[in-house]
Order: sequence, then C-alpha cells, then structure tokens
Amino acid sequence: MFFRPPYPQTRMRRLRRHPYLRTLVQETHLTPQQLIQPLFVAANDELAQNSDPALPALRRLTLTQLATTVKDLSALGITAVAIFPVIEHSHKSDDGREAYNAKGLVPQAIATIKNSTPDLQIITDVALDPFTSHGQDGITDKKNNILNEDTIAALTRQAVCYADAGADIVAPSDMMDGRIGAIRNALDDHHHFHTVILTYAAKYASDYYYPFRQALGSAERLGSADKKTYQMNIRNSDEALHECALDLQEGADILMVKPAMPCLDIIHRVKKTFQVPVFAYQVSGEYAMHSAAFHRQWLNKETIILESLISIKRAGSDAILSYFAREAAELLQ
Ligand code: PBG
Repeated sequence: MFFRPPYPQTRMRRLRRHPYLRTLVQETHLTPQQLIQPLFVAANDELAQNSDPALPALRRLTLTQLATTVKDLSALGITAVAIFPVIEHSHKSDDGREAYNAKGLVPQAIATIKNSTPDLQIITDVALDPFTSHGQDGITDKKNNILNEDTIAALTRQAVCYADAGADIVAPSDMMDGRIGAIRNALDDHHHFHTVILTYAAKYASDYYYPFRQALGSAERLGSADKKTYQMNIRNSDEALHECALDLQEGADILMVKPAMPCLDIIHRVKKTFQVPVFAYQVSGEYAMHSAAFHRQWLNKETIILESLISIKRAGSDAILSYFAREAAELLQ
C-alpha cells in the first residue's frame, strides 16, 4: 500500500488542485438512494399536533400527511422509509398486544404508503415500546425484568403482522436473544420468504435516543428506567461483533449499528469483519444536537449535514437512517 516515493516526487496536493480531480479520486459517494427517512405516524390528530417545532423531522404525521410526505421523499430519490407509530395511551398495555393488531396503526400506515408510492421500501420497527404501558421494548414480570421468551413470542407475531400488511423489511430493534431466528422461522412459516430482516444487531444503550422517545411518547412511560439489560454497554466493541455473528447465523439479511457517529469504530469493524450489507442509524440525539448548533449558527447546516452522513458512509455503512435524509437528498439534487 505504501509504495510511493517520498516527497518531492510524491505530492499529495497534486490530486486536490481542481474540483473535478477531487471528485475523480473520491472514495465515498453519498446519494439519496442510500438514505432512509424515519417517519413518525400518529394515531389521531390530537397526538399529531404535539411535537417540537425545533425538530421538524420528528414531527408526528397523520395518515393523510404520510401519503404526501412519502411522495415527496420518493421524488427526491429516497428509496426507503422507516415508520414508527405514536399510539394512544388507551391502546397501550403491559404486554403491548396492540403491536400485532392487524387493523392497527402500522398496518394502516403500510397500506397508505403502498397506495401512494408502491415502490418505496417500507421498514417497520419490531419492538414493543410504542405499545407498552411501561415503555420497555419487551414484556416484563412483576419485578420489571424483561422476559426474553415471552417477548420473542410477541415479536414474531408483530413481524408476521407487518409482513402480512405489506412491509418489505422488518427491523427488530429490541435486542432480545434469539429473536432473529424465531422471526425468520415465523415469516417463512407464513410464506413471507422474501421479507427482509434488517437487524439492529449492535444497538447500544445510548441516551442519544431521548428525543425519539419523546416523539414516540415512550419517554414519560419509561421514566427513570433504562434498557441496559438488553441494549449493549457503550464501553464494548468485541461484543458488537459477537451480536452481529449470532444474528447472521440466525438469518439476518442486513446488520445495523446504532447510534452512528458515536459508533464509527463499530461500523468500521462490523463492515470489515462480515462484508455483508451494513446500515447505520444517525439517531434522534445526533439530529437534535446538530439542529441546535445550526439554530445558533455555530455550524453551517448545508455542509455539516452532508459531512456527518459522508463520515458515516466512509466508516463502512452502506445506507443510513437519518432524520436529515430529506434535507440531504435536497442538497444532493
Ligand atoms: C425502539 C427504538 C428506539 C430507536 C429506534 N427504535 C429507541 C430505544 O431503543 O429506546 C431510537 C431511534 C432514535 O433515537 O432516533 N425499539
């Protein structure tokens, strides 16, 4: 790799002299086709009104707004959206059973999207937190322990429900052990052989998820509780590879690392090690801190949005879930 003669024969600046030269030799390419927009969908108008104007991408959409939003995104070259439901309190329960209601909000949102933009790929989150009264991703016992096997039973029903409704990709974000294999089997049993599993394989117990939890309405439910008995310790790196290896063995199609910028090293290791499709999730806290700096004019929005996404791609991510997807796609036009 390092066979060049030294300076002055080699001048690294030679290839940086002209903008065309720089693009000819650039190693990383960011296109709208590899950006995925997360979208929050509200069960009713009242829930939809309740969001922070400073963080417009976390806005809760009505189904009517969803139909036009996905059209716009598709016109910008975006090929996939990830949808997250904001459920009314009256439909939340300890076991989160609303998660596999075939007439629930997510199946309705899938139908809405498929109606207006049939080709757009729909990613649905598989986890119970939008539906549980306690805000945890799984089912709990009386002492608030998360029950792995009971949770898997609910998750498999949820994944099949979403695939039945037409989801192209199911994305288990719950971090239970063994859920990928169980979900693959359940999907195949229901003849959903082509439903893709995008696993949140290396998902850290990160506080960067806080604005998301507020948008979802699970933050107040969770209170001071955390998710550290299932999400990964932020101090670990080898463990992320172990998680990814297990999920691949169980039948995952795509690996995801989350959050993104705090985990560029993990994205890099995962891509190098497994050489399978790897996605990263630039999460709500990353969106919020960038947005705050843009608002104060501490950072330049147009260039920093692209720089943040390019750095995640350069680390090894093939596609990126980002609240900046729409704005980035506009900037890339
Ligand atoms: C829940 C889920 C979370 C995110 C995606 N799916 C939050 C959590 O684990 O508490 C976070 C996304 C973000 O912060 O943007 N299963």
